[in-house]
Amino acid sequence: MSAPVVTIDGPSGAGKGTVARLLANRLGWHLLDSGALYRLVALAGERSGLDPEDVAGHARLAGALDVRFTTRPDGSERIELAGQDVALAIRTETAGAGASRVARWPEVRQALLARQRGFAESPGLVADGRDMGTAIFPDAPLKIFLTASAEERAIRRHKQLKEKGVAVNLADLSREIEARDRQDSTRSVSPLKPASDALHVDSSARSPLEVVAVIWQHGAARGLWPTA
Ligand code: DC
Repeated sequence: MSAPVVTIDGPSGAGKGTVARLLANRLGWHLLDSGALYRLVALAGERSGLDPEDVAGHARLAGALDVRFTTRPDGSERIELAGQDVALAIRTETAGAGASRVARWPEVRQALLARQRGFAESPGLVADGRDMGTAIFPDAPLKIFLTASAEERAIRRHKQLKEKGVAVNLADLSREIEARDRQDSTRSVSPLKPASDALHVDSSARSPLEVVAVIWQHGAARGLWPTA
């Protein structure tokens, strides 16, 4: 039997990354940060001097990404692209916009498909992204669509970037997030949208741990793990 998968999809800044990591840690399950893969493709393209609109070139890079995801002793993420630590480089808003650009192309999405499905290993997987429940793991036994108000999402992203030492202006950030959500929701292939069987959770007034508690209850109700 294949490993159980919990999918967490939603717009930027809804808290998917934090919630997915907390839930995966609590369960001792694997974690797939699919957005990181699109960010890596955009960064790899930039570093190899590709034209930003070169679809075939980016698809080739996506199919051959030399990437390693590990965790540092302090619990923070380490992501190596061709042996170079890019954990910070892929978290900038420019990298996010680049990811959203290359994510429009079916050729790139197809090139990343098998790699993403490969994360579903025993004992289970928590997968965070935009199309986890609709396209990558349509049979997942628990699908969450995590949202938050646009204002709250911009404030969170601002705080997150500030903590990482990335200087950004809140108004600019709001505009960038809106533009990215529009692009992600309106593209023709695997747009950001809830799966028909997804449970909607609003994180605007909930802490990450409170969101995890809500998801935990749903998973327990479906027999995926114990109640407590
Ligand atoms: O979750 P994130 O901000 O790291 O994602 C960066 C971009 O990658 C996002 O704007 C859209 C794209 N993406 C996608 O199209 N499909 C996914 N499953 C994950 C991310």
